[in-house]
Amino acid sequence: MEVKTIDDVDVAGKRVLVRADLNVPLKEGRVADETRIVATLPTIRKLVGDGARVIICSHLGRPKGEVRPELSLGPVAAVLSEKLGRDAAFVETCVGPAAEKAANRLADGDVLVLENTRFWAGETENDHSFAKGLAALADVFVDDAFGTAHRKHASNYGVAELVKPAVAGYLLTKEIQYFDRLLEDPPRPLVFVLGGAKLSTKLAVVTNMLGTVDHFLIGGGMAYTFLKAQGYDVGSSLVEDDFLADAKKVLDEAGEKVELPGDHVVARALDEPASARAVDCASIPEGYVGADIGSETIQRFTAGTVDAGAIFWNGPMGVFEVPAFADGTEAVARAIAESGAVTVAGGGETVQAARQFGVADRLSHISTGGGASLKYLEGKPLAAIEVLSR
Ligand code: 3PG
Repeated sequence: MEVKTIDDVDVAGKRVLVRADLNVPLKEGRVADETRIVATLPTIRKLVGDGARVIICSHLGRPKGEVRPELSLGPVAAVLSEKLGRDAAFVETCVGPAAEKAANRLADGDVLVLENTRFWAGETENDHSFAKGLAALADVFVDDAFGTAHRKHASNYGVAELVKPAVAGYLLTKEIQYFDRLLEDPPRPLVFVLGGAKLSTKLAVVTNMLGTVDHFLIGGGMAYTFLKAQGYDVGSSLVEDDFLADAKKVLDEAGEKVELPGDHVVARALDEPASARAVDCASIPEGYVGADIGSETIQRFTAGTVDAGAIFWNGPMGVFEVPAFADGTEAVARAIAESGAVTVAGGGETVQAARQFGVADRLSHISTGGGASLKYLEGKPLAAIEVLSR
């Protein structure tokens, strides 16, 4: 990555606006998963340690330009204070006189958290005057929000055009380094383990990475569109008929690079685990839906990870939240963790599965950006990174 980072700028005594991705799940007004908060701590700690006046902004949820108190960043500021071991003040706005007053009152090393940027419609519209309002708070801009890097919004794009220097934080830098390694110089063989419901969300990744990846192991709902494109019966499994032609084209081009399930665990419906049964061929009988990969596929897919040099994993192999349909995802997750390869996982469900099966700590890198990482692997530039100082 050629962009400047926080190691390239002098921040002592300066007001530094940090765009973090603190879009965390909340439950009953409390933070339910601190991963994204913890992930940005190295950047905040470094800035605090160097005597910056740190002002943090983020979106939370999709309030669409309305103030929704249940999506306030207040609870996030409280967790941040706890983690930093120092007070992170919170101000209930992010632009205008109250925000400017709070920012200008900060002493060196102080931390201030602004209110949810998406309470203002100008955020997602990348509105110039909203970006100017944020820019008025800062002498230096730091983007650490990899999870939002595929969005061209005021708080990660508009403001970076106005405040110079605009540099990357440690989390953004680390994420890009891992993904650049997969794209440019991966340890081989490079294996992509893909799953999840829909082929449409990952088709562009498969297409872009066809020349780079050595093996694709494809399970989950997206596999049924490929199987139907190959002429197999898929019963009532989820299929995206609009993508059958694309799926066929990928399979024709990929040859043996793409491995698909050859057997399944099926059920009458995904919410009827009592009807689960094994089907030992690639076709799924009428009246049944594919819910997990079968035992032969588990063996083949886990064997496919053994000699890998690098593995990217996005998407479960089945409905892993239901014990009757969890074996495929669990076995593949364990095999990835035990492979000894450089392992990168991304996507909300994938991270949830990695945690559920106790392998999260054994992966080289868990990405904080599901949508952003897929877009990067599609070969598309991420707007918020393009705009940073070089
Ligand atoms: C995410 O959770 O993927 C990021 O925070 C981006 O959120 P968004 O999809 O609402 O833009």
